Amino acid sequence: MASYPPDFLDELKSRLRASDVIGRHVPIKKAGREWRGLSPFNKERTPSFYVNDDKQAFFDFSSGQSGDVIKFLMAFQNKTFPEAVEELASLAGMEVPRSTPQEVKRASEQDVLRKVLADAQDFFRKALLAPEGQDARDYLRRRGVGQQAAERFGLGYAPNDWEALKRFFLGRGVEEKVLLRAGLLKVREQDASTYDGFRHRLMFPIHDHRGRVIAFGGRALSSEAKAKYLNSPETEVFHKGRVLYNLTRARERMRGADGQILVCEGYMDALALDSAGFAAVAPLGTALTEEQLRLLWRLTPAPVLCFDGDRAGRAAAERALERALPELSASQSLRFAFLPEGQDPDDLLRKGGKRSMQEILQAKADAEETIWQLALARHGTGTAEQLASVETELKARTNAVKDETFRQALFRAFKDRIYNLRGEQFAARRQRQKTERLRGRHVHARLSPELRSRLGQGGSGGPAGSIREARLVISLIHHPHLFSRFEDEAMSCEFQDGSLARLWSQVIHHLVESPDLDSEGLRSQLSGCSELQTIYERWSRDRTVKTSEFVRHDVAREVVEDEWYDAYTINQRQKHLAEQAIQAAETSSPNERRVSTLVKLGAPMPGRTE
Ligand code: UTP
Ligand code: MN
Repeated sequence: MASYPPDFLDELKSRLRASDVIGRHVPIKKAGREWRGLSPFNKERTPSFYVNDDKQAFFDFSSGQSGDVIKFLMAFQNKTFPEAVEELASLAGMEVPRSTPQEVKRASEQDVLRKVLADAQDFFRKALLAPEGQDARDYLRRRGVGQQAAERFGLGYAPNDWEALKRFFLGRGVEEKVLLRAGLLKVREQDASTYDGFRHRLMFPIHDHRGRVIAFGGRALSSEAKAKYLNSPETEVFHKGRVLYNLTRARERMRGADGQILVCEGYMDALALDSAGFAAVAPLGTALTEEQLRLLWRLTPAPVLCFDGDRAGRAAAERALERALPELSASQSLRFAFLPEGQDPDDLLRKGGKRSMQEILQAKADAEETIWQLALARHGTGTAEQLASVETELKARTNAVKDETFRQALFRAFKDRIYNLRGEQFAARRQRQKTERLRGRHVHARLSPELRSRLGQGGSGGPAGSIREARLVISLIHHPHLFSRFEDEAMSCEFQDGSLARLWSQVIHHLVESPDLDSEGLRSQLSGCSELQTIYERWSRDRTVKTSEFVRHDVAREVVEDEWYDAYTINQRQKHLAEQAIQAAETSSPNERRVSTLVKLGAPMPGRTE
């Protein structure tokens, strides 16, 4: 019987319903939670043969037989165990693992190792209670681990001695090479002699999913130890990527904990959480593997991964997500709980008690939310480029999901989230642009007659356009610092009004020549040319021009810069609109066309001034 891996038999039975298998051979009818029929083993009139799907078993009261489906086939068809397994496997569509003589041998060798490991645990446990275990007992007290918890977890102490465990086993006739294979001894390079791998450490036994000891984790008691935690090496019975610390206990605990299983990072965390009533497991010093995820999903659809709230914690969450993403679906998912920065569950429980952990769990996030938050944290959302990076990451994550339904649900969810985020950002920007737009409308109201006159005259700037341009020039003369701030804009400015264009180009010329010129210096340069002097005086005294604050001398720099830039933008836009309108007028003359062009370009209707 040892020739089949127990996982295989479990899987086989769980894939088949007992009533289906047995119902093929015996007429049975549903009776409450069970199935009932006449006994296939004895002649009877009243049915006393029962099949129970929850228990995956049959009960025959007439003959007193009972058992699982394998036993049924053996009893009913006189099959051998392998024959019964063979038939069930073909029903379940599973391949029977072939048991070769080597496999049989390996299974019995593994039994030997597990027996040694169980004895080692016993040895460590006794050492913890002995006088030599004083340091370890003190340590447990300091960390708030009571005697009951220590017993529940089978904690022990590896003595401060190079050969204590080795002597113990050799004295009982266990060979050195077996101890080596169990991962309990290490080999010195110089002379190939062996010594205890765990010394002066608090010992945490590690169990497989059937509750058998297969390895140890040892917590250093001295701060001089090389590694804080030391795990057994990989052995024939211990593959650390396939094991979760405390899984057997968590499986029992989860019923009392809403079916919730917490995944934390360390032994002490699992122990502390368990003691507080949570179902908790931990990987063994590595990131969660796919196999570990699969173990968890067999027990619960959405295990809760607990991480430190700092950058390392986020990185660990990313790694776990990356592993899990391809396998995620509606029925197989993850939750994420982030603890306060720099704290693990053990710290948190000691400081804030069970309540504080519950609060953290209350705020746990699902995979969608976590993927989203991690993407935002990594790329930021301030600019269009950042938002694009967020979107790219979300797409890549989504595409990693194999389950079609879940992938599409994620895809839609992220699309909505991006859409909403853009909306929020747009609303904020709109607030800022509001002033500018209102001003644009104001100018536009004046632009209409100008446009009309320009269309009539064939294109030279009208009076309203001149006022707009004059403000830009006069403001620059009064505030030459604008040039250093908006050099590109100033260089690209175009003027319709010929005299203002001449004044502008002279001002730019002087500022390029001597960037440090102040307003007074600039004006004295201009006064050298009487034509420019006249243009300046005319426009700087113009009452309409002066209605704009940024033109005046005595205005704060920020206000001037903001308003000048706004005026510049409007100027450029109006110029663009005018060009469009001219083009439209050239291709078709009716007035409505012109208006509809303006509307299409996003300009408000003429006449709707503020
Ligand atoms: P941590 O260093 O976060 O420690 O290791 P911890 O669990 O909070 O330990 P205490 O509270 O100081 O006792 C987390 C886990 O990483 C693995 C162990 O599995 C540990 O529980 N680890 C850590 C190692 O394997 N080796 C180490 O040297 C350190
Ligand atoms: Mn800790």
